[in-house]
Amino acid sequence: MLPNPYTPSDRPRVFIGRDQERTVLRDKLARVAAYGEMMGPLTVVTGPRGVGKTSLLRDVAGQAEEDGFVVAWVSCVKQQPFLGEIVDRVERSLERAQVTAPGGRRLKEITVELSAGFAKVRARLESSAVAQSTALVGPLEDLLARAGQLVRERGGAGLVVMIDELHAPLESGREWEYAPDRQALLHGAVLLNALQNLGGVRDGIPVGVIGAGLPQTKGLLTRAATFGERSHELVLGEFGRADAARLLEAPATELGVSWSPDALTSVVDTARGYPQSLQILGAATWEAARPERGSVLDLAAVEAGSRSARTALASIFEARWAVATASERSFLQAMATVGRAVVRRGEIAERLNTSTESLSMVRRNLITKGIIEEAGYGRLRFTIPGFETFVLDQESIREDPT
Ligand SMILES: Nc1ncnc2c1ncn2[C@@H]1O[C@H](COP(=O)(O)OP(=O)(O)OP(=O)(O)O)[C@@H](O)[C@H]1O
Ligand SMILES: [Mg+2]
Repeated sequence: MLPNPYTPSDRPRVFIGRDQERTVLRDKLARVAAYGEMMGPLTVVTGPRGVGKTSLLRDVAGQAEEDGFVVAWVSCVKQQPFLGEIVDRVERSLERAQVTAPGGRRLKEITVELSAGFAKVRARLESSAVAQSTALVGPLEDLLARAGQLVRERGGAGLVVMIDELHAPLESGREWEYAPDRQALLHGAVLLNALQNLGGVRDGIPVGVIGAGLPQTKGLLTRAATFGERSHELVLGEFGRADAARLLEAPATELGVSWSPDALTSVVDTARGYPQSLQILGAATWEAARPERGSVLDLAAVEAGSRSARTALASIFEARWAVATASERSFLQAMATVGRAVVRRGEIAERLNTSTESLSMVRRNLITKGIIEEAGYGRLRFTIPGFETFVLDQESIREDPT
C-alpha cells in the first residue's frame, strides 16, 4: 500500500507556492551569505493559525542550511521569557552543525570559544534583578555577532535564528487590558534592541533573525520596543485556487496517483484556500481510497473520506473554541448567525445589543488568537473555513442540553 503523502499538521512533503515570500527571505539570506553582513531588522512572517507560517520558516531554514548557514530554531511559549531558549538553541545548533565548505571544521569548537559569551548572557538572564534591557543587550549582541563570525571563519555562511510563535511571549495574561509577563516583554525589548544595534553596524555580522507569529505579532513587538514597527512584516494569506489544487495534486503525483477534476474542485471549494484544511481533506480522501499507483482519487473517494475529515476539522475547531473566553464566544456566535463569509462589525454589535466600540477589545483578542481576521475596513471573517458551522452547533448544544 502507498503511504499517505499528506501532512495535516506537519511540514509538507511538497512545499507549494509562497514564491514571493520565499524569494524575499532567500534574497535577504543570500545577501548575508554574499557580503557577510547583518540581514537587517527583524523580519516576521504573520498570519492566522494553520496558514503556513511554520512551514515557510522550515522551508527557508532547510534552504539556508544547504547554503552553509547554521540555523537555530526557537519555538516560543505563551507569556514565557525566551532569550534563554535562544541562547540554548544557538549553542546546540553550533554543536550539531558541520560546515563542510572549504576550511570547514567541526563547529563544536566554536561553542568552546563562545563559552564565556554563553555564560555571560545566562548569568544576566538568571539575575532576576535585571529589570532593564541595557544589561542584556550588549552580551546578546556580542554572542550573536561572534557566533556568526565564527561560523564564517570556519567556511560557513553565517548564523540564522528562527523564532516561531513570536507573539506568544508578548501576549497579555488578562482579557481587558494589556498585561504581559514583564520578563517576557523585557526579552522582546532586548532582542529588538540587540538586532537594531547589530543592524547599525551591519558589516562583518553574518547574522539573520526571522520570526513568525499570529497577526498581532508586529503590534506586540511595537509595545515591547518603540522601534518594533521597524521590523519587516510578511503577511501570509490563503492559497489561490491554482496553488490549492497543486497542494493536493503534487504529493499524489509523486506516488503515481492523480485526482479527477471534479474531486479536486470539490476539495478546493470546501477548503477555501486554507492549507491546513486542504491537507486534512487530502489525507482523509487518500485514507478512504487507499490508492495504488495509477489510481484516480474521485468524488466518491472525497465523499468516503468526508466523515473522518470532519472529525479532524472538528478537533481544530475545538482547539480554537477552547481558548475563547465567554465574551469571545458570544461574539463568535453573533458573527456566525449572520450567515455570510464577510461580516460587518455593526452587524455583530446589533446582534449583541451593544456598540462596536465596546466590542473592540474582544474583537482584537480574537484577531490576536488567529480565530477571526479583518476583511477590509470594518469587516471581519473567520480565518478557517467551516468554523462558523461549528460555532452554531456549539450554540445549539448550549441552548438545547438533551
Ligand atoms: N506552502 C505549503 N505547501 C503545502 N502545505 C502547506 C504549506 N503551508 C502550510 N501547509 C500545510 O498547512 C498546515 C498548516 O501549516 P503550518 O503548521 O505551517 O501553519 P502555521 O501558520 O504555522 O499554523 P500555527 O499558527 O497553528 O502554528 C500543515 O498541515 C502544512 O503541511
Ligand atoms: Mg506554526
